[in-house]
Amino acid sequence: MKHVIDSTDLTVEEIDGILKLAQDIIDDKEAYSEACKGKKLATLFFEPSTRTRLSFESAMMELGGNVLGFSSADSTSATKGESVGDTTRVVSCYADIIAMRHPKEGAPMVAAEKSLIPVINAGDGGHQHPTQTLADLQTIRSLHGDLNNFTIGLCGDLKFGRTVHSLINALVRYEGIKFIFISPEELKIPDYVTDMLREKGIPFQEVIRLEDVMPKLDLLYMTRVQKERFFNEEDYVRLKDFYVLTPEKMELAKPDMLVLHPLPRINEISVEIDDDPRAAYFKQAQFAVYVRMALILTLLGLA
Ligand code: CP
Repeated sequence: MKHVIDSTDLTVEEIDGILKLAQDIIDDKEAYSEACKGKKLATLFFEPSTRTRLSFESAMMELGGNVLGFSSADSTSATKGESVGDTTRVVSCYADIIAMRHPKEGAPMVAAEKSLIPVINAGDGGHQHPTQTLADLQTIRSLHGDLNNFTIGLCGDLKFGRTVHSLINALVRYEGIKFIFISPEELKIPDYVTDMLREKGIPFQEVIRLEDVMPKLDLLYMTRVQKERFFNEEDYVRLKDFYVLTPEKMELAKPDMLVLHPLPRINEISVEIDDDPRAAYFKQAQFAVYVRMALILTLLGLA
């Protein structure tokens, strides 16, 4: 039985298979409309979500399956002190596959150790968000055309941004990727990431000003400052509007540079950019349904 806790739990070949299956689903949705008939997805969301939970639920419904679960820990026996391991062991008697979000890093891994059914990490603290990475890769492959040979700028909260950590782990396995990390000093990419890049001989640069590197980028991955991970409101307020992508800044970019964002957006991308053909973030949210359909099919052995 396979769980997906980290983006490296999937090999490059498995990722390619999931992206190809997602494209097949896009091309012929009807062919998959009963593929999960009789199967149940449990969505165990101990932390808020709009896209991840609803796109997982939509994915299972599109496959003809059913969904059960919760969207807040408040309504569960976690409030009485039940452990994540016990919750998961019990839910695995009620469903065929679990998608779990949790504020504590490592909680989905603990869940996987106790589970009788596949567990998918739907985001754990500031750690990993592997299914967002699948959506990001599908967006890059579909709209940029290739998962090799590009320069990607990752901008914003690189310290707590789990989508950034997962995406880097996945991209280092492709060829010719250059990373440019754009963040204030306080939200720098963690040392374990830069150490890993140095060890693998993968080029990267760390800068503070977005404008300085904009012309070099093939892809710009914007992120919000993660309010919920700050211990101190004052620090959050000081840093939250550090980057705002405006039409003026987009004039510095290549004419085909794609703008990605896992969403939710706060202020870091001006709404005026939404009509720019290079804005890919709402398409990214749409691709998320198809990659999650493909992942569910793959983990249930129905692909
Ligand atoms: N991209 C993402 O994880 O969004 P949600 O927090 O709304 O699920």
